[in-house]
Amino acid sequence: MNKQTILVTGGAGYIGSHACVELLQAGFEVVVVDNLANSKLESLDRVRQITGQNVRFYQADIRDKSALTAVFNQHDIHTVIHFAGLKAVGESCQQPLHYYHNNVYGTLVLLEVMAEANIKQLVFSSSATVYGESDSPQYSEHFPLGPINPYGRSKAMIEDILRDLAAADSINQSSSPWKMALLRYFNPIGAHESGLIGEDPNGIPNNLMPYVSQVAIGKLPRVSIFGDDYPTRDGTGVRDYIHVVDLVKGHIKAIDTLQGDAFRQGGCKAYNLGVGRGCSVLEIINTFEKVTGRKVPYNISPRRAGDLAECYANPELALKELQWQAEKNLEAMVADAWRWQSMNPDGYVR
Ligand code: NAD
Ligand code: WQD
Repeated sequence: MNKQTILVTGGAGYIGSHACVELLQAGFEVVVVDNLANSKLESLDRVRQITGQNVRFYQADIRDKSALTAVFNQHDIHTVIHFAGLKAVGESCQQPLHYYHNNVYGTLVLLEVMAEANIKQLVFSSSATVYGESDSPQYSEHFPLGPINPYGRSKAMIEDILRDLAAADSINQSSSPWKMALLRYFNPIGAHESGLIGEDPNGIPNNLMPYVSQVAIGKLPRVSIFGDDYPTRDGTGVRDYIHVVDLVKGHIKAIDTLQGDAFRQGGCKAYNLGVGRGCSVLEIINTFEKVTGRKVPYNISPRRAGDLAECYANPELALKELQWQAEKNLEAMVADAWRWQSMNPDGYVR
């Protein structure tokens, strides 16, 4: 049987490069479209080192319709995994038009090209950030949406567009309906166990795990813990940290599910990808010190605007319908993040 070809938008990025490894190892052909706005091509060289296989790479912006159409003409694409997007919350508040143009308009162009090529199977990178306020810290897919920043709203808008597409199929009784999985990631951390690929933030990291890693290696003096007076077990913020390799395995399960009976008539469904357990900032720092033997100095700073006290996934739907659950524990996440950081103190250099 011929190998199925998966188009991975944003495939040179943090999660995308890990997805390339898992897809190649699962026997798929992989085509990557990335404009390298937030990544380096070296990540894909490393994917080759890990797997012994090549991806086909196109340096292109998903907003460039003719470039994208050419890729669809060149390859027999079976499914698209759509990671391409900008993801910095603070930057999205400063440059909302840039974020909406890149994320929302970029996705519209991708969907138009897919529709024209009659390729209608999509796995989309959504985020737990789409959820609104809730009485429970454990979020299920049916909880109301209500993102509070332009980045989150760009994800929620894309989710709406995808649901509208699926709804239009049922009105039109389309013979080749859209089949779409919206994967709402909680907090992906860690790296491939080889230490060859990982998260390579530009400048000073916004997110906790890369920040802690850079303190441990001596590039930054200390972690500022944003608040120790939350109503949580130790007063610091609680999140659902998930190993990036577990996360990308969820995408392969989603591809399988989209091809199965549950999506025979098409559809668009959201799934949480999280461990289902919360972990505090102090627990992250303590585990990091224990696993690596490095000191991680910290101080307590004021709360960061927009942060929730506690947020973790109810991952039951993904277990039931995708047959997926996270397997790696916090120690493995930290050990793998540290291996990547210590083998690549300056990230990718090319
Ligand atoms: P990343 O920045 O490492 O990867 C995104 C990739 O998309 C980059 O390689 C970038 O160059 C590329 N890209 C951006 N805009 C593009 C465009 N217009 N055309 C072509 N390529 C473009 O980020 P990541 O952490 O790997 O995130 C992947 C996806 O998952 C993003 O959509 C992000 O919003 C989503 N997500 C990430 C997290 C997280 O914490 N990392 C959590 C939830 C959701
Ligand atoms: C985790 C915890 C902070 C940094 C963000 C985005 C979200 C999603 C994932 C894409 C919080 C605390 C952090 C620091 C700290 N991305 N912290 N000191 O905020 O849960 O989610 O990334 O979709 O949209 O908002 O992740 O890693 O920034 O923070 O004390 O220097 O660590 O307050 O409790 P967050 P994070």
